Amino acid sequence: MRPVKVGLLGLGVVGGGTWAVLTGNAEEIARRAGRRIEVVAAAVRDIEKARRLVGDAIAITSDGMALVRDPDIEIVVELIGGDTQAFEWVMEAIRQGKHVVTANKALLARHGNEIFAAAHAQGVMVAFEAAVAGGIPIVKAIREGLTANHIQWLAGIINGTTNFILSEMRVRGVSFEQALADAQRLGYAEADPTFDIEGVDAAHKLTLLASLAFGIPVQFDKAYIEGIANLAQEDIAHAERLGYRIKLLGITKRRPEGIELRVHPALIPAERLLANVEGAMNAVMISGDMVGATLYYGQGAGALPTASSVVADLVDMTRLLAADPEHRVPLLAFQPDAMADTPILAM
Ligand code: HSE
Repeated sequence: MRPVKVGLLGLGVVGGGTWAVLTGNAEEIARRAGRRIEVVAAAVRDIEKARRLVGDAIAITSDGMALVRDPDIEIVVELIGGDTQAFEWVMEAIRQGKHVVTANKALLARHGNEIFAAAHAQGVMVAFEAAVAGGIPIVKAIREGLTANHIQWLAGIINGTTNFILSEMRVRGVSFEQALADAQRLGYAEADPTFDIEGVDAAHKLTLLASLAFGIPVQFDKAYIEGIANLAQEDIAHAERLGYRIKLLGITKRRPEGIELRVHPALIPAERLLANVEGAMNAVMISGDMVGATLYYGQGAGALPTASSVVADLVDMTRLLAADPEHRVPLLAFQPDAMADTPILAM
């Protein structure tokens, strides 16, 4: 069977990881997808750097618009981040009838409603497992594993950088600035790390999780957001003396009067599971009315864990391309349901 042809927008941390996963596990991936997944082109800012990574194996361009219009490409993988150029290219890809995989939580939290509506109208798939909690298959867990439940609440550590910083400050006494520099060096932080520190990245992800969990449109602008910028070493030490750990949590909960959507530092008793999630790990607890509480834990940031989720979406899409088009979209795009009009509560 002929391979499915993929174009990559971006070959940075996650783009490089995606290339490594696709080439490193090519045989298994082809077997599981039903055919080979072939990256045919990449659009990058720095062509020389990209060449050092992939050699002459694929076409490298600096023109993202040309890539998304390339008639040869069936799936566009957007890994450039940001919500300006990425938005233009993703919308054009959809107009061109291409399926899209993205790791871009900022893009979807701000423009998801428009993107999903356009995808629905065009009959194309948009998948975003890698946008939330890195390598943890949390989107699939909510959409598939917990689909028989009414989700009641969801709470978790969904930003690796801030969790890494808080861990380094508590366990090793490292300064905030040093811990942030280490998180940047290790490829955990956003291009603009204030998104991590100020809780914005966690709120982007929480917005997407709330949409999936409750079937509501994405409403990032209504989230309550407080980051870790005001936390000092003394706060962490003081919490420790009282038997608590400080964690940046994202919480969304349904109440009779509406939905809570909030990100803020929280004191967690030291013996609790979430209190013991260290480094760049993420952990999300989800409670459903039938299943009770469930817990998902794993690498929330970094090249290969995030790429593992990107490639999982590519495999899913490749399998679905073999199915009747009517059966594809509901599996991969946001679907409003009975709670679609439920208000987000002001906090
Ligand atoms: N900057 C993000 C984090 C990357 O630290 O969690 C993964 O989304």
